[in-house]
Amino acid sequence: MKKSRSRAKIRKAVIPAAGLGTRFLPFSKAVPKEMLPIVDKPSIQYIVEEAVASGIEEVILVTSRGKSTVEDHFDISYELEDTLAKRGKTELLKTVQKVSRMIRLISVRQKEPLGLGHAVLCAREALGDEPFAVILPDDLIDSTVPGIKQLIKEYSQSGKAVVALEDVPDSRVHLYGIVKAVEVKKRLYRIKHVVEKPKLKDAPSNLAIIGRYVLPPEILEILARLKPGKGGEIQLTDALQKLADRKILYGYKFRGIRYDSGDKLGFLQANVVYGLKRPDLRERFREILEKELSK
Ligand code: G1P
Repeated sequence: MKKSRSRAKIRKAVIPAAGLGTRFLPFSKAVPKEMLPIVDKPSIQYIVEEAVASGIEEVILVTSRGKSTVEDHFDISYELEDTLAKRGKTELLKTVQKVSRMIRLISVRQKEPLGLGHAVLCAREALGDEPFAVILPDDLIDSTVPGIKQLIKEYSQSGKAVVALEDVPDSRVHLYGIVKAVEVKKRLYRIKHVVEKPKLKDAPSNLAIIGRYVLPPEILEILARLKPGKGGEIQLTDALQKLADRKILYGYKFRGIRYDSGDKLGFLQANVVYGLKRPDLRERFREILEKELSK
């Protein structure tokens, strides 16, 4: 039997990576912030690995000027592979080959910084008429079941749009899309309202949207008709509100720990946590940290 369209498999993921990365200046002046390493992999690689582990078959990277190293990272580097092979560096060769062969990746350009909603809209042609995932590269999720896979599972059961949710402290409410929602079953919420980066006094709750979304193709039509919202940008949040009005927007409190790798402290924290998880580094790294902290 043919599957109904609303339960179509999630095959494609949009990764918006066109931002200027002002929070990481001066580093991000000539190098995209998505290339900042968490231990020895650029942060964007963790995001693409999450997509692969979630059954995604094609990544649509939305980039801008100066981001070509991100594309290069996932491309085959013939000279490098040849040199590693000739020198007998088999393990390194495998590591490098794995990156370039992990997924089909295409990139589209966002020529002007017109907002997250606009960035997603830039992927429209590549997306076609099927539901898709959006993964924001600043949000690293450390979890047993990959972050976006948890949402895909919810989507496959309901056929409705679903976004990742997390409780945030009062001091951070102004940094996120904040929802007004009712819990319909454990961890799953029906979202009634979304407010982009509200002042604490205007926030409907402390439940924030984290950078994982599974969206129906009609959101692209909504985005195409949207007027600029907060900050003069085409906001994904405003398009989500239209889905909420149609009662087809859900939120899922994902299981796992999220690190905001686009923030200095979040980035340092992710490096400490991921560094301590590495069997080859853990002992020495712990000693170094302890020594530094005891000073
Ligand atoms: C974006 C969205 C916001 C969401 C956040 C998650 O904001 O606009 O609604 O809560 O991502 O990380 P940004 O962090 O890109 O400013």
